[in-house]
Parts: sequence; C-alpha cells; structure tokens
Amino acid sequence: KQKERQKLLDAYDLASRMYHFLLKNTEHGREAMDYLKGRGFSDKLIDHFQIGYAPPQWDTLSRQLTKREFPMELMKQGGLLLSRNDGSPYDLFRDRIMFPIWDARGRVVAFGGRILGEGGPKYLNSSESSLFHKSRTLYNFNHARPTIRKSRELVLFEGYVDVIKAWDAGIHNGVATMGTSLTEENAFMMHKNVDRIILCYDGDDAGRAAAYKNLSLLEKSGCEVKVALLPDRMDPDEYIGAHGGERFVREVIHDAVTSLKFKLIYLRKNHILIEDTGRIKYIQEALKLIAPLHSPMEREHYLKELAEEFDQSPETLKQELHQIRLEMQ
Ligand code: CTP
Ligand code: MN
Ligand code: MN
Ligand code: MN
Ligand code: MN
Repeated sequence: KQKERQKLLDAYDLASRMYHFLLKNTEHGREAMDYLKGRGFSDKLIDHFQIGYAPPQWDTLSRQLTKREFPMELMKQGGLLLSRNDGSPYDLFRDRIMFPIWDARGRVVAFGGRILGEGGPKYLNSSESSLFHKSRTLYNFNHARPTIRKSRELVLFEGYVDVIKAWDAGIHNGVATMGTSLTEENAFMMHKNVDRIILCYDGDDAGRAAAYKNLSLLEKSGCEVKVALLPDRMDPDEYIGAHGGERFVREVIHDAVTSLKFKLIYLRKNHILIEDTGRIKYIQEALKLIAPLHSPMEREHYLKELAEEFDQSPETLKQELHQIRLEMQ
C-alpha cells in the first residue's frame, strides 16, 4: 500500500513536470502559452504554479508512464489514465491547460485541466484517489501556509485562476476549494489554521449564492467571516485584469464587509424596496438578522444604519427588535 502510494505520487510528479515542460518547449505548447499570456500570466507565475499543457494526443502521458514501467492498473485507479474497451490505457487530459493540485506538503496529487478558450466542460478535474480527497483539499494551501499561520487569516476563492492572480497581487494567503461546494471537513480544516476568513467569490448569482450558503457553515466552525464584494459579473481574476492588483487589494480585499452586512445586502435583492410592503418586509427580515447578535453595541450599529436608510425612528425599530428578541427566547 505504502509502495503504491509512492508510485502514484511519482507518477503525478512526473506528469506535472512533463506538462510544464511541454507548455514551455513545444509547438503545441506555444498556443497554450499564448493563451496564458493573453490572460495575463507571467513566466514567473507559470513557473511558481507549475502550470502546464497536455497536448491533444491520446498517449502523451500513457507512453511515458508505460516506458518507465508504472503499473497501469494503479495509474487508472489513481485518476491519471483511462481505459479503452480492450484494456489499453489512454490519457484523461488532452489539449488542456494543466493546473497541478498539491497536498498540504506540496506534493502533486491531482490536476485541474482547462480547455483553451470557450466550450465545455471548462474544467476537468482528477477523480478522487488514495492521494486526493476533494473535501480535504485546499488549492494552494501548501504555498499559503506560512502566511496563513502568521496572520491567522485566509482568503477563500472560487477558482484556481483567482488564487493565482491574487497571489500575484500580493495576497499570499489565498486558497480555493475544489468547486464552490464547501464541506464541513473543509471548514474544520480551515478553522484549525485560522480565526478569520475572507470569502472572495465571483460577482455573479452563483458566486453570491455560494457565499451566502457557505457563510453559515464557516461561522458554525468558529471562524469570523467577512465577504469581499465584487462588481456584477466580475470574478477576482477579471477585476484584477480590469483594475490592477493594487486596487483589488485596496478596494476588494481590505473593504470586505461583515457577514451580517453581506446578508443584509443579499436580502435586499429579494425585496422590492420601492413598494411599502416590500420595504416593511425587508426591515422585518433585517431585524431578524440583527436580533441574534450578542453585542448590544453591534445591534445598535446596524439598527442605526437601518433606521437612517429607511427614514425610520430608531425607537420604533428598537421596539420591533426587542419584540423579536423576546420571541427568540
Ligand atoms: N469548476 C469545475 N468544473 C467546471 C467549472 C468550474 O470544476 N466545469 C470549478 C473550477 O475549480 C473553477 C471553479 O469551479 O476554478 C470556478 O468556476 P468558474 O468561475 O466558472 O471558473 P473560473 O475559475 O473563473 O475559470 P476561468 O477564469 O478560467 O474561466
Ligand atoms: Mn512551489
Ligand atoms: Mn464562478
Ligand atoms: Mn470565475
Ligand atoms: Mn475566471
């Protein structure tokens, strides 16, 4: 078993070095390189994140692994190769930009493979294996760990590219889960390492819904959570491309709002605030979010904001809040 694990690790290591080499030194790789350069990846970033390219052929990796006498069954179980009907192996990743995924110790245990340009599926990820468990893996944790340890804080992104571009902008405590669905195991693992999490998901409906959903899971694990707000339909990579890394750090990361503030913003979208009934409903729902806060000062703060915004007397809202708190007990 231990020997098999090591063999598989060796295979992933070989594959990542091969894909990286092919990106930088082949004709096919040049197209991929142009794509990456067009998206703002510098040579330094490509090297640091060991980005690679899997050519279109069906046997690029399988030939190398066969030549070096890696056991084919293990390579298939391990998620590197697929099997034809006659049992012969072929490559899972073809004509894709390859992002190696590391375990906490910095060993490659999986890949995320992106097509060049549009079409689908956009990303193909390695299947789970004895080395790779999605619910326990945080992309870039190996690089981010020293910074995370020092600051007791991390920034959680949706995608590999966001993590990489944010790194370039100086955010060295950024990680991503495998897709937007966060597991309790992810949350537990994060809380072991940090006290604060900044959620920095895409500025689209999917990203905001995921942020809303994951907030409570992260807070339940005991972390203080803030949410970075992105303009509509922009993800961190696109924001950095449009406005630069400095502004991203200054206006998106540093201006992240409290989880309650985010919930209030999110709640607003579901109410028609130009109508009296919608406005009253929103205020009531908002008070329900404010009511459970332990600190009287915090409650006062949000209550005042709400009162000012809707031109209500703070006293009336206070009475309402008091009522809700009584009902909560
Ligand atoms: N994802 C996936 N499979 C897909 C689409 C997305 O596994 N078919 C995961 C990937 O980990 C991806 C993340 O979800 O990084 C976020 O998805 P999305 O926002 O669509 O992709 P981006 O990270 O923005 O990728 P890009 O900038 O390359 O388009
Ligand atoms: Mn490295
Ligand atoms: Mn997205
Ligand atoms: Mn995105
Ligand atoms: Mn993107």
